[in-house]
Amino acid sequence: MGYFALLALLCLGCGLGASSYKPHEWTMLILTHHWPQTFCIMQSCKTDIDNWTLHGLWPDKGHMCNSSWVFNASLIEDLLPEMRKSWPDLLHPSPSTVFWEHEWKTHGTCAVHSDALNTEHKYFNKALELYHKLGLNSALRNHSIVPSETYYMLDDIEGAIYDFYKVKPKIQCTHALKGEQTLGQIEICFDKEFTLIDCHHPVEEDTWNNPNNILTTGGSTGFSVCDRNVKVFYPPLKEKQ
Ligand SMILES: *[C@@H]1O[C@H](CO)[C@@H](O)[C@H](O)[C@H]1NC(C)=O
Ligand SMILES: *[C@@H]1O[C@H](CO)[C@@H](O)[C@H](O)[C@H]1NC(C)=O
Ligand SMILES: *[C@@H]1O[C@H](CO)[C@@H](O)[C@H](O)[C@H]1NC(C)=O
Ligand SMILES: *[C@@H]1O[C@H](CO)[C@@H](O)[C@H](O)[C@H]1NC(C)=O
Repeated sequence: MGYFALLALLCLGCGLGASSYKPHEWTMLILTHHWPQTFCIMQSCKTDIDNWTLHGLWPDKGHMCNSSWVFNASLIEDLLPEMRKSWPDLLHPSPSTVFWEHEWKTHGTCAVHSDALNTEHKYFNKALELYHKLGLNSALRNHSIVPSETYYMLDDIEGAIYDFYKVKPKIQCTHALKGEQTLGQIEICFDKEFTLIDCHHPVEEDTWNNPNNILTTGGSTGFSVCDRNVKVFYPPLKEKQ
């Protein structure tokens, strides 16, 4: 075989490889926490949870990567009690699994291209493991960032997180009220080996701002990166009725 023929073959190989693998070539995992009180202000739901809870574990690239890999709750039966606490669906009461099904379909089926995440059980178990390892709730409390009627500046919150983890988070707010913003989501990022890394804003930024269509049927505006120059409200638990 001539040199050029070989080159052409090789190139065909790489072309195919590139096109079939590109959607799954993620390099970063984003562990997204949300603040239930803020979520429920946006969605008019009710919750008495005053912990940051899991929203999802998202590869930085790829979206709905394999529609034939369907979610099956019985494969994560052992994780469900922990998921109800740490990864609760704030809109659909238990035993609904619609939130986790959505996360699996949208993000989990893309994450599976790492051996450490290549089953449904591994994916959800790893998300829970990372969530507990991080302990965002105690990290913030330990730096006196607590829900309160007084406001914070973004630098205080970001600084506390940086101080604890030595990496930059991505912190998102809702901007429903003029002149202030409400703390809603905190993303902390890992590389493929689950080492903490700085979150950088992915190219597909827009798809992340409102990734849960299923959860935002109330016509809410979604989250965007908090403004550094505007005070941040970190809403405390509403008084119990
Ligand atoms: C909040 O988190 C703490 C520590 O992780 C836990 O002990 C507590 O049960 C959680 N509270 C709720 C309402 O989930
Ligand atoms: C999609 O998921 C199905 C069912 O698990 C699996 O058999 C198939 O190999 C997957 N396809 C790709 C491209 O990963
Ligand atoms: C879900 O998983 C269970 C346990 O492996 C299996 O018995 C069942 O057939 C699966 N259901 C579907 C719809 O694939
Ligand atoms: C807060 O930080 C101190 C000093 O690092 C540590 O000893 C303590 O366990 C932390 N508390 C919590 C709740 O994380």
